[in-house]
Amino acid sequence: MKKQFIVLLATSVLLTTCTKDLYNPDICFQETILPIFVNNCAQSNCHNPSEHKAGYDLTTYDGIMKGVKPKHPLLSDCYTKVKGNNPSMPVKPYPNLSARQVTDIKVWIDMGAPNTSNCKSCDTSNFTFSGRVNPIIQNWCVGCHSSTNAGGGYDLTTYSGVVNSVTNVRLLGTLEHLSGFSPMPKNTGAINSCDVAAVRKWIQSGYPNN
Ligand code: HEC
Repeated sequence: MKKQFIVLLATSVLLTTCTKDLYNPDICFQETILPIFVNNCAQSNCHNPSEHKAGYDLTTYDGIMKGVKPKHPLLSDCYTKVKGNNPSMPVKPYPNLSARQVTDIKVWIDMGAPNTSNCKSCDTSNFTFSGRVNPIIQNWCVGCHSSTNAGGGYDLTTYSGVVNSVTNVRLLGTLEHLSGFSPMPKNTGAINSCDVAAVRKWIQSGYPNN
């Protein structure tokens, strides 16, 4: 009886530890996983609401979940198609996902693929270009705004390219989904308000290259 109890205890400790390792509270669906798909898979002629190639619209949680079997990354198209050295997605000429992005997708699926948002508290003090604004743009925008694929003529891969969208008074209105602007990121909802606020503060402070 006692021995069985110890075995049970050891097993549950082991299980708890494993689950804890797999669970990464920093991986949030809305801020970590959704932008990977919107930015790398939803370009025109790909997996967006009007074209949904192969039946996949990868711009919403429900759309992404069609290619996800929670806790089973190896049975999930959204992971198996993008992993490894020679992945079938994204199709050329779009670049492969980074190793970090592929791992984040796997860990999120292992976590049960929850539909989470706002996992971190809002940091209102940091609104530098390098530490805050550029990571948001890299995360959400450059898949459709690079030198080879400059949506609307905007290449947002460099500081001067981002500044160009500011001086043309196009950046903030698109992020805030104001009327008269194309809502960005294209094909999906607005990015979280904490990130929009950081971009607004950076613009109001004179958009320095800091
Ligand atoms: C899935 C592709 C895609 C993503 C992701 C995307 N864009 Fe765009 N963007 C486009 C296309 C295509 C256009 C031009 C046609 C249009 O306006 O829809 C455009 C236009 C724009 C314009 C000009 C629109 C206007 O009203 O003048 C700005 C500014 C812009 N994008 C900024 C961004 C920013 C900032 C992000 C990231 C938060 C982003 N885009 C993410 C595809 C995308």
